[in-house]
Amino acid sequence: MNRQANILPFTPPPLTHSRPRRWLRAGIGAVRQPKRELMTRTLYRFAWRAFELLHGLDTTGSIDASELGHDEQRFGYQPIDYHTFLAALRPLAKEDRRGTFIDYGCGKGRAVLLASFRHFREVIGVERSAELCAIARRNIERSATWRRAASVRIVEQDATQFVVPDDADLLFFYNPFRGAVMAEVLGQIRASLARRPRRMHLIYALPNTDPDAMAECSWLRPWRSVSTCNHAWEKLTIYRPLAFGNGRDSS
Ligand SMILES: C[S@@+](CC[C@H](N)C(=O)[O-])C[C@H]1O[C@@H](n2cnc3c(N)ncnc32)[C@H](O)[C@@H]1O
Repeated sequence: MNRQANILPFTPPPLTHSRPRRWLRAGIGAVRQPKRELMTRTLYRFAWRAFELLHGLDTTGSIDASELGHDEQRFGYQPIDYHTFLAALRPLAKEDRRGTFIDYGCGKGRAVLLASFRHFREVIGVERSAELCAIARRNIERSATWRRAASVRIVEQDATQFVVPDDADLLFFYNPFRGAVMAEVLGQIRASLARRPRRMHLIYALPNTDPDAMAECSWLRPWRSVSTCNHAWEKLTIYRPLAFGNGRDSS
C-alpha cells in the first residue's frame, strides 16, 4: 500500500488530469491557431519594444529610399519583425547558426542585433547609408551586455562593393535591393562559393509581387518557405546552393 493512501482519505487525481490544467488546455484550444499566432506576435512586438526602450535602442520606423539617396533598385529602410526573424532561423540546424551571419542592407541593425544575441562566430551588417550605420553601431554598443556572438561589425559600403568572406555561411536579405544590384551581389556570393565550396543558407524576404531573383538562379534551390508576419504581401524563402562542397547536394 502506498504511503499517501495511509494519510489521505481519498486518492487525489493525478496532476496531469487536474481540473485547472484541463480548463487551461480547453481554453488554449478554443483560441484558433491564427489567433494564437497573432497573440504571440503581438507579445513579441511588445516585448521587443520594451527591450528597446529599456536599453535606449532605435530600430523602429521606416525611411523612404529617396530620403537615403538610393536609386530605384535599392530599397529604403524597414525593420524585420522580431517574430519573423526568429521564424526564419528556426528551420536551420544548430551548427548552421554558429558561423558567419551577414545581413545585406542592415539598416538600423535590428537583424544584426538579434543575430548578435546568438552564438555566431561573426555577425556582419552591410549598409550603404552612413546615417543608418551610425544608428546600428550605437544600437550594438548599447546592447553589448546581451551579446553572445564572438564578433559584431557594421560595414558602411554598397553591397555590390562588399567582398564576401569565404567563411560566410548564413546570408540574410530582408528586401534590400533588386535587379542589377541583386544580380551583382549574387554573382559575388557564387564566386566566393567557387573559391571555397561550403554549406550555405540564404534567407530572402521580398514582396509577393516582385520577381524573386534567387528563384531564377540555377545554382540555388529553395529549401524552406517560412510564414512571415506580413505573409499577405511578402514571402520568405531559405535557399541553398545546389552543391555543398564536393559537388554533392546536402540536405
Ligand atoms: C528593408 S531594409 C532591411 C533592414 C534590416 N535588414 C532588417 O531586417 O531589419 C533594407 C536596407 O537595405 C539598405 N540598402 C539598400 N540598397 C543597398 C545596397 N546596395 N547596399 C547596402 N545596403 C543597401 C537600405 O538602406 C535599407 O536600410
